[in-house]
Amino acid sequence: MLALIHSRKLLRLGPSYPRDADEWRNFPMTLTRDDLRIGDWQVMRRWETPLMKVLAREASAHHGDILEVGFGMGISADEIISNGCRSYTVIEAHPKVADLARKWADRQATRVQIIEAYWQDVVPNLDASYDGVLFDTYPMSRRERHKNHFAFIPVAPGLLRDGGLLTLYSDETIDFRRQHLKLLLTHFDEVKLIKVTGLRPPSDCEYWRSNLMVIPVARKGSRSDRLSPGVTRAVVPLPR
Ligand SMILES: C[S@@+](CC[C@H](N)C(=O)[O-])C[C@H]1O[C@@H](n2cnc3c(N)ncnc32)[C@H](O)[C@@H]1O
Repeated sequence: MLALIHSRKLLRLGPSYPRDADEWRNFPMTLTRDDLRIGDWQVMRRWETPLMKVLAREASAHHGDILEVGFGMGISADEIISNGCRSYTVIEAHPKVADLARKWADRQATRVQIIEAYWQDVVPNLDASYDGVLFDTYPMSRRERHKNHFAFIPVAPGLLRDGGLLTLYSDETIDFRRQHLKLLLTHFDEVKLIKVTGLRPPSDCEYWRSNLMVIPVARKGSRSDRLSPGVTRAVVPLPR
């Protein structure tokens, strides 16, 4: 018996994935200062703050209309707002997290829209264009593990204005997957890779171990000066 328990521990049997989208929506949400759990899954943790800051800064580099997919703890949302944008929209699937987002929205001076839905259900009919998109959801099945963003990449250009930017939680280290880069380059015109270092996932983190993550910033179109009306690129004169 003891041997059996020991081996189960060694195997670290994780929680099971939801049977379907409805089951995930009914999983309980637990929020503490440092963690967001949905069901038994560690969905978001505060150690990711430095990573979220970089993602938010890059997604809102043009400051116009920004779309985020996955609200989580609202860490990247806070950063997007403090970086400055004309409007902020988020698509969030879990009803309790969407409640958090609505409470958060009440405190913002910026125009905010919360769309409570799976992105897969609303994006095909979303009649809107954005200057930046930040994608950070969570795998719903073993098949999606480490690549839940792959299905979004082909549809992202349809949400962006010319010159608009997509960035995402990449699940990549310096061994950036060839399949991932190829997907980005198939659907975007420029891809910049940023190495975010100094991450400190705690030893009990169930989804990330490395102290770095390499994130892509993909641009639609080769020019960044044809953004939404009123959004212009700042030109900073070089020091002599
Ligand atoms: C990792 S968290 C996002 C963390 C967020 N960037 C932050 O800074 O706190 C992922 C969020 O995506 C939501 N989510 C998962 N799958 C989704 C989907 N298909 N469509 C929309 N939201 C989804 C989860 O409910 C969760 O709130």
